[in-house]
Amino acid sequence: EMMKELLGLSSLEKELEQRLGVPKVIVVSGDSDENDWVKHELGQATSLELSSRLKPKDVVAVMGGTTLAAVARMMTADAKNREVVFVPARGGLGEKVENQANTISAEFASRAGAQYRLLHVPDQLSEEAYSSLILEPSVQEILTIIKSASVVIHGIGDAETMATRRNSKVPSLQKLIDNHAVGEAFGYYFDENGKSIYKQRTIGLQLDELDQDKYVISVAGGHSKAKAIAAYVKNRPSDVLVTDEGAARSLLDL
Ligand code: G3H
Repeated sequence: EMMKELLGLSSLEKELEQRLGVPKVIVVSGDSDENDWVKHELGQATSLELSSRLKPKDVVAVMGGTTLAAVARMMTADAKNREVVFVPARGGLGEKVENQANTISAEFASRAGAQYRLLHVPDQLSEEAYSSLILEPSVQEILTIIKSASVVIHGIGDAETMATRRNSKVPSLQKLIDNHAVGEAFGYYFDENGKSIYKQRTIGLQLDELDQDKYVISVAGGHSKAKAIAAYVKNRPSDVLVTDEGAARSLLDL
């Protein structure tokens, strides 16, 4: 804490809380666009925040991405986590295996000494496949668990970066650009007013299900994500935002 005062991070946190309307902002030093180690710092700060909130029998829904993978790697085992269950918040979004919510949720559980459940849903579901899959009893069972999550933890991406990385044909990159998409979080694309302009079709938590009794932890760093973060929190202010100095300073310059 004293270190944070010295680095001026505490005042950045306060300014951002006011500016973004997010009750708690945690800023770590550095810029993850410039240095890889900053993602570990984001991971550590988020893992501490999550661990301090976890209660036995909590269901924690997690999303994918390289930032969330870094958070999972920083989790530490605790006896009180034995009955905590980690689940992916939504099905496949077209990420590499190590960046998928399923993989990351299993990693969270194994590091934290908790349980996990998988959601087996293919990427880029057709309307027909979607409608019949959600009727499967095994899918319904895990969906009920996912929707009961008390904590949701997810990353935020720059819209163009994410659409390119996921190689999405639908919607085309051009369509996202035409609609002024700036940010992406769990398969939803947002414009700068925080309006959702497109969502990838997959099973799991939908944006309008993040009601007030779910505790939402958003983790995103790097100056290139400033616009994306600002857009996302306009839609549904996070309960906690964990970010880095690079993103924080760019956010205040917007
Ligand atoms: O939805 C947002 C992305 O998952 C963020 O991915 O953490 O690899 O930048 P990233």
